[in-house]
Amino acid sequence: MASELENKLERVKKFVKIEKIIDGDKNSPRAIRAYYRINGAAYRRFHSDRGFMHFRVSKGDKIEEDDIFYQPDTVMRYMPQNARVLELGPGQGANIFYLAGKRLDATFIGVDLKPPRKPKTAPKNITFIRGNYADLNMIESESVDLVFGIETVVHCSDKDKVFAEVARVLKPNGVFILYDYVILNAFDAYKPYEQTVINLISKGGASAIIESDAEWDAHFAKAGLEKISKTYLSKEGIPDLHRLALTASRILNSDKRSKLFFKIFPRKFTNNVIIGYFAEDCVKEGLFYYNEWIYRKKQG
Ligand SMILES: C[S@@+](CC[C@H](N)C(=O)[O-])C[C@H]1O[C@@H](n2cnc3c(N)ncnc32)[C@H](O)[C@@H]1O
Repeated sequence: MASELENKLERVKKFVKIEKIIDGDKNSPRAIRAYYRINGAAYRRFHSDRGFMHFRVSKGDKIEEDDIFYQPDTVMRYMPQNARVLELGPGQGANIFYLAGKRLDATFIGVDLKPPRKPKTAPKNITFIRGNYADLNMIESESVDLVFGIETVVHCSDKDKVFAEVARVLKPNGVFILYDYVILNAFDAYKPYEQTVINLISKGGASAIIESDAEWDAHFAKAGLEKISKTYLSKEGIPDLHRLALTASRILNSDKRSKLFFKIFPRKFTNNVIIGYFAEDCVKEGLFYYNEWIYRKKQG
């Protein structure tokens, strides 16, 4: 019997040419910027009106209001007094605005291809820089106490370069906290339809092909970072993914709505909805994990 993912893939194929989404690389800085420009308002409307763009981590079966703060609250626990903190890819800036409001002793830098605007009322301890965090030349070596990135490094093809830059700017004993998507096995180990879904989600979201757990571990090791903890949070993401799947299904389970939807909306937006359509089943069928990694730069 076909799995839910297989059924959904067949459905999507009725309306879109999958090859257009998955052929070639789709994660140049320009493509990433365009993806977030086109989807920015949708993130605010359907995900978080405060501008958080990451998944809620729910400890129960239902989403609680505070679940969106799980990642920044974890970051805050690792911040020493007067910390200098760097966020990779702050997106709409919600994590930094939240943290900076709570920790006036700290200073925050966010590096993004398309950094957010800072409202006049924003705390003064924030600097946003337009740039590619694969090259952090604007930040001195060993000057940062904590670096974090939430659902952003998945976009990069050369993760070793990013990790090396993080290791360079961190002070000895400084902490690196990362949240991102992982596939369980090596890409080649998956069935053809599963590979298509992995491709669709990766490239549809302007990312590199999502890497396996072992590949991510190797990036940390290569950068010489020392593990504090690694946590699989996939089950905890399901309530939020379920919410998104319901929204996407309202469109994609109807032939009439799907035809209209793919006709009138830009591809980078329809791709985002396709991701929402698949993501919950990807986790339930064991294709994807959502990981929290906490690492430390070794002393000396
Ligand atoms: C999903 S958003 C994450 C937003 C934020 N971390 C949050 O939790 O709400 C990913 C962000 O990473 C940024 N990004 C992706 N690759 C980047 C790179 N190489 N350099 C700088 N920013 C990058 C994108 O522009 C986008 O704003």
